[in-house]
Amino acid sequence: MRLMNEPSTELSALSTETRRFDPPTELAAHANVTADAYEDAAKDRLAFWEAQAGRLQWDRGWDRVLDWQPPFAKWFVGGELNASVNCLDRHVEAGLGDRVAYHWVGEPEGDRRTITYAELLAEVSKAANALTELGIVQGDRVCIYLPMIPEAAIAMLACARVGAAHSVVFGGFSAQALVDRITDADAKLVITADGGYRRGAPSALKPAVDEAVPQCPSVEHVVVVKRTGQDVAWTDKDLWWSDVVDRQPAVHQATSFDAENPLFLLYTSGTTGKPKGILHTTGGYLAQVAWTHWAVFDLKPETDVYWCTADVGWVTGHSYAVYGPLANAATSVLYEGTPDAGGRDRWWSVVEEFRVSILYTAPTAIRTFMKWGDELPGGHDLTSLRVLGSVGEPINPEAWIWYRDVIGGGRCPIVDTWWQTETGAMMISPLPGVTSCKPGSAMGPLPGIAVDVVNDDGDPKRAGFLTLNEPWPAMLRGIWGDEQRYRETYWSRFEGRYFAGDGAKWDDDDVLWLLGRVDDVMNVSGHRISTTEVESALVSHPSVAEAAVVGANDATTGQAIVAFVTVRGSVADDVSSGEAFAKELREHVAKEIGPIAKPRQILITPELPKTRSGKIMRRLLRDVAEHRELGDVTTLADPTVVNAINDKMGDASTED
Ligand code: WT7
Repeated sequence: MRLMNEPSTELSALSTETRRFDPPTELAAHANVTADAYEDAAKDRLAFWEAQAGRLQWDRGWDRVLDWQPPFAKWFVGGELNASVNCLDRHVEAGLGDRVAYHWVGEPEGDRRTITYAELLAEVSKAANALTELGIVQGDRVCIYLPMIPEAAIAMLACARVGAAHSVVFGGFSAQALVDRITDADAKLVITADGGYRRGAPSALKPAVDEAVPQCPSVEHVVVVKRTGQDVAWTDKDLWWSDVVDRQPAVHQATSFDAENPLFLLYTSGTTGKPKGILHTTGGYLAQVAWTHWAVFDLKPETDVYWCTADVGWVTGHSYAVYGPLANAATSVLYEGTPDAGGRDRWWSVVEEFRVSILYTAPTAIRTFMKWGDELPGGHDLTSLRVLGSVGEPINPEAWIWYRDVIGGGRCPIVDTWWQTETGAMMISPLPGVTSCKPGSAMGPLPGIAVDVVNDDGDPKRAGFLTLNEPWPAMLRGIWGDEQRYRETYWSRFEGRYFAGDGAKWDDDDVLWLLGRVDDVMNVSGHRISTTEVESALVSHPSVAEAAVVGANDATTGQAIVAFVTVRGSVADDVSSGEAFAKELREHVAKEIGPIAKPRQILITPELPKTRSGKIMRRLLRDVAEHRELGDVTTLADPTVVNAINDKMGDASTED
């Protein structure tokens, strides 16, 4: 593997941080998990995970904790359970039917839905009956393309209930991205909506499905939730959710499935243009997700109100807005819209209204709020908050301190949680009642998790590449339909170790610092996008000859996409140098992948810098994009190219 990004010196310098923040005394005294957990897990890792799996309801106990045939793991072998029953039925049976599962907040002012566990069970049962009527059976795949409305969680749980794997596609992805994902998974059914509310206006979703489905012969039906009431085109595969779900019996007798029954696929970007369908199964996933949600947030389900701001289209939404909190019988807030809809203090009014006590969000959001000013959160009563979480990218100490002081009022511990789509659940994080935190660090592996930082040869070192050296219950079971890629991507770089793709470093106090990706994967606002994917989107435009894409540091979004493009000879200079052309290319990327992949800057350049062997020098382009002093350019086939690019950078076309 070629390693493009050396962890930047700015990030490396973080590990000289000496400030420490101890757990609040009160919280520590009543914490769900104490330091004993580290000892227990160290003594007997498998027994530790068995104990956590014991928090779930199993219809048949497992015969073996772990069957590890590297790189293939089976957890809780022989065990049987139903994920939906674990999230719903068992709580209702325990008398918690009246507890609120979701306080749903729609984007339009005053739009609310309160759903208790009993109501959620009824809704999921109806949806499961509808799936059965539509011919969905165990082992099928269902694509879910929905806004952040309760039906997203209901659809996921209904799939789990009948043993079908869901594949949720983020609503910000394009029709083409849908085609790729539906086709790869061979999905039989698509569940979508007419649209959702974003930035104060209805934003259509169904047109993308209308465009995609004719290219996807596996799709038999499309179920459409009416959310915005906007006009939609209609085909003979389409069915309204209200027609097919609402009339179903609100009772559904769930059967149990093998612990290794596929629960979901979630597509994520890799280092090539083709997204990977990350496969997660049922028992191990649910065990680790439920335990980490309870342990890392010190969840008290009777009294806490928990809010994970992630969209269900990402793994954070799967594990910590749906499966984790529901498995723990928590009360959650679910919010449909953007942080500035109805005012830039929208989030803080939600926290105040619902007395949110645990908030889980991303550094990019925190930095945006910092920029918007302290007065906005300052105008609301945020005293209900007691634990704050961060996920998606390294959180810089400045943002960490701001989060702690301005949002947390100096009272709340911050848990900076490192994990990935592939890990399924949190892996590296402090425990709020145990760990004395350094601002900006995820501190160290959770109990039951084993990490090493290794050098190129795979030898443990103080700084280098982050690896996981023991299987964990929520680990991916593979890449859908591509065993070879699974082996190569994660298990071939270092013998016997899972290679995460991140740089990391232990500091002198044995505290772990995550230093960002070391491969061709960008992290934009906590979302993973591959440089190659954006490059192939650009090159598919008829006027583009070549494209090179890099992630440049960005004060708000972590990284921003910068594209260097050469145009075909047939394109006139005055066309290709114009703002309209850059805009057209940006729109083209949005169409190919989705608006989230639109480059912040597009630079039209006569040549791309290449080595003598013809490799594009992205490292150098990244320096250009970040306006850094240039390093060694002697391997450049044509060194003048760099100067030409640098000159251009001044007047590069910028998004905003
Ligand atoms: C990549 C995984 C996990 C859900 C959201 C992203 C980066 C994630 C942290 C953190 C430093 C982090 C890593 C990782 N990342 N959390 N707390 N500190 N980096 O999921 O899209 O699968 O991305 O996000 O680079 O590899 P994902």
